[in-house]
Amino acid sequence: DLKGFAFDLDGVIADTARFHGQAWHQLADKVGTKWTPELADGLKGVSRMDSLEKILKAGGHENDYTDEQKLALASEKNDNYLKLVATLTPADILPGMKDFLDELKAKGYHMVLASASKNAPKVLKYLQITDYFEGIVNPASLKHGKPDPEIYSAAAKLMKLPANQVAGLEDAQAGIQSINGAGEVSIGIGADLKDADVKFNDTSEVSLAAIKEQLG
Ligand code: BG6
Ligand code: MG
Repeated sequence: DLKGFAFDLDGVIADTARFHGQAWHQLADKVGTKWTPELADGLKGVSRMDSLEKILKAGGHENDYTDEQKLALASEKNDNYLKLVATLTPADILPGMKDFLDELKAKGYHMVLASASKNAPKVLKYLQITDYFEGIVNPASLKHGKPDPEIYSAAAKLMKLPANQVAGLEDAQAGIQSINGAGEVSIGIGADLKDADVKFNDTSEVSLAAIKEQLG
């Protein structure tokens, strides 16, 4: 039986995946990499520096910048992202997710955050939902980012639960791979997440009953 839920943040709890996309698009324009839907999709769930590398590589620019210049590019992207994020309010929680968090809390489920974003604590604060989570996996403590299972294994450990009692919610292929690799139940939100154990088209469909129904 499920006893805990590990949440991705960007694209699951709030529509911040759109903000990451906007800020990376700006960066891609700056370095001269063509921005495509495929590139945008492949960046979801991927850490800041790995995302930068993917953008540089997509344009054949991976050897054009020193490490120091790359750090400056990543920090410029983050400044732009933070300007977008500063506009967030509780009204920006994705449809149905506040109800789902309330349902889990009322029923005594464990909840932690498993986001690759170093800005996650800030985003939770803007959304005013920090208190729902008993912990946040610190992405700086990880050796490998998504799709590696490390972050979702760390989430189970934070909740002191075995993997098979934990479900993870994700909007990105890299995240679903991470959950599956950790041996947890994967809940995919959005199209094209064919490896997810449970699938929803959007956040408004997510509830305990709907999850249990798909798990059978
Ligand atoms: C993930 C996002 O949650 O966090 C990625 O899906 C983002 O788009 C990654 O690159 C890292 O975020 P940050 O805020 O630490 O740059
Ligand atoms: Mg996400």
